[in-house]
Amino acid sequence: MSRFDGKVAIVTGAASGIGRQIAFRLAAEGGIPVIADLNLDAAKATAGEIGAKGGEAYAVAMNVTDEEAVDTGVAEVVEKYGKVDILVSNAGIQIVRPLVDFPFADWKKMLAIHLDGAFLTTRACLKHMYKANYGRVVYMGSVHSKEASRLKAPYVTAKHGLIGLAKVLAKEGAEHNVTANVVCPGFVRTPLVDKQIPEQAAEFGISEEAVIKTIMLKDTVDGEFTTTDDVADAVLYFAAAKSNALTGQSLVVSHGWYMQ
Ligand SMILES: NC(=O)c1ccc[n+]([C@@H]2O[C@H](COP(=O)([O-])OP(=O)(O)OC[C@H]3O[C@@H](n4cnc5c(N)ncnc54)[C@H](O)[C@@H]3O)[C@@H](O)[C@H]2O)c1
Repeated sequence: MSRFDGKVAIVTGAASGIGRQIAFRLAAEGGIPVIADLNLDAAKATAGEIGAKGGEAYAVAMNVTDEEAVDTGVAEVVEKYGKVDILVSNAGIQIVRPLVDFPFADWKKMLAIHLDGAFLTTRACLKHMYKANYGRVVYMGSVHSKEASRLKAPYVTAKHGLIGLAKVLAKEGAEHNVTANVVCPGFVRTPLVDKQIPEQAAEFGISEEAVIKTIMLKDTVDGEFTTTDDVADAVLYFAAAKSNALTGQSLVVSHGWYMQ
């Protein structure tokens, strides 16, 4: 008997990086991850790799900022499996620019992916979770849900906002046995971070090595990156919670960057 036997888990943005590892780990413990991603080819490739390892996974095309695409994607999952037990709202991007000339279109794009995406996927899944009287929702926050960095105004704003959303859902969901929590990783070497290293180097006029040492890992206890597995450990812990005891919380996984 594994922790997630037969549990259907929609993981947004699971074609890459952190979400992808969460999907692999859920499948390894008997769960059925639904790889919901903008990039359907990559989502299918991830589902195929999980299948090749003996797990079960399903790929759906989903732009989390598009109300109709989210509702249709979730309906497709429910038609296939009859339920959604777990939502990991993880899809995200990063755009770095000083606040003084941050383009409004980029600000809106960031809030749409991180906040509209979390809201729309939550709402679509909740209808089915409430009917089943069970649900586990985990939002992918960041140390930037607690702490600020220069150049990241919409990201920091959105990631702080997810904690508010989780707290409201913890209250509203309780009578339906639906919990909501936030995992807050430090820097993880994924395509999202690899893209930022040269961008920040150019913006601050320093080397890429200096971006890693003096910005990204400066406040960790040991100068180490967090891994996708470290983040997946925390997500699976919240997703496996047996009662409403563990709800409305946020957990930082960051090698000690930002201690509460
Ligand atoms: N990498 C880090 O250091 C780090 C740290 C803290 C938090 N996070 C958060 O973790 C999450 C995953 O990031 P990652 O580093 O794995 O990034 P990634 O770029 O490796 O993966 C992100 C995935 O999201 C998908 N995506 C992007 N926009 C989408 C949309 N509109 N609809 C559906 N899917 C979409 C992409 O296709 C991609 O597969 C993000 O929310 C990010 O903010 C990352």
